[in-house]
Amino acid sequence: MIRCLNPKMDPNALDIAATLLQEGQLVAIPTETVYGLAANATDSAAVARIYATKQRPQFNPLIVHVSGLEQAEQIAEFSETARALAEAFWPGPLTMVLPRKKTGLGAKISDLVTAGLDTIALRMPAHPVAQALLSRLDFPLAAPSANPSGQISPTAANHVVEDLGDKISLVLDGSATAVGIESTILDLTTETSPKILRPGILTLNDFKKHLKVHQNTPKSPQKISKNPETISAPGQLKSHYAPSIPLRMNVTNPLDSEAYLGFGSGEFVRQPDLNLSPSGSLSEAATNLFLFMRKLDNSSAYSGIAVAPIPDEGLGLAINDRLTRASHPNG
Ligand code: TXA
Ligand code: MG
Repeated sequence: MIRCLNPKMDPNALDIAATLLQEGQLVAIPTETVYGLAANATDSAAVARIYATKQRPQFNPLIVHVSGLEQAEQIAEFSETARALAEAFWPGPLTMVLPRKKTGLGAKISDLVTAGLDTIALRMPAHPVAQALLSRLDFPLAAPSANPSGQISPTAANHVVEDLGDKISLVLDGSATAVGIESTILDLTTETSPKILRPGILTLNDFKKHLKVHQNTPKSPQKISKNPETISAPGQLKSHYAPSIPLRMNVTNPLDSEAYLGFGSGEFVRQPDLNLSPSGSLSEAATNLFLFMRKLDNSSAYSGIAVAPIPDEGLGLAINDRLTRASHPNG
């Protein structure tokens, strides 16, 4: 049976979590983006449990969560640009893909984490519970989102209980996540052409300033891929975040049998069942996205989910990326 402990209420919660992780067990943890399914990144047996528990294909590498830049620099090669970005956006929802170090802690990370690649994805989460846990461990944590592979990511402890309650023994409750969608993944392995592999609330606009300052040639920032068509990560599966009923996006005329998920205050042909953000705020919509998809999916009243158009710019790119994947049932 799964235990759900809130470190604010239970002073032993972090110690219990740390002990389980040291023993090679999995613990679900809150981050500011979504809940993660964490294991000791240096313990291959523990990491193998993540793949088995999520039924995740082993070619899809995991993000390593670090206590800070100091630990990160023991794992990967940091260029000046990478360091500047870490200083600007960590702790926070930025994952950087960097060349993996072949010595020290870099060599100790399980090859299962990177799926055999010589690059590694690193991030320092901003959630106080994740930080408190990482700072008491002497190893970093591999942590994908804490949902069965392909399904909707969890943004609250009870979502993890619903999805993985029979498979893991502990979830740390850190309340509902603030960001609501996964971190932005920025590939910095080719210094001259950094690429966004997965859009998130941090966008190219946020990074540009830092890339310009630290890039030698003035042309480099233009080389950044702006085209969502080119966004790809190894193992970024086309079908992902999928509810159990079909989802359609950019819908202005929902079927009677469909749940209607609105956005903004425009005129709707019928009243939305839920509205991601009545005021049209994209960050509010991101926070609500997985929660509302889950609510509509859990109701037995609907044949499918129809989502109103979301502007395809800025943070809207990240929301539409998730909706596109959610609408590919067999992709
Ligand atoms: O916000 C987040 O990033 C959450 C929380 C828990 O931190 N984590 C998360 O992990 O979304 P996950 O496993 O669901 O997504 C990891 C993504 C995958 O798309 C994977 O392909 C990519 O990161 N990835 C990992 N290592 C990579 C690498 N070396 N090169 C390129 N992509 C990589
Ligand atoms: Mg995921």
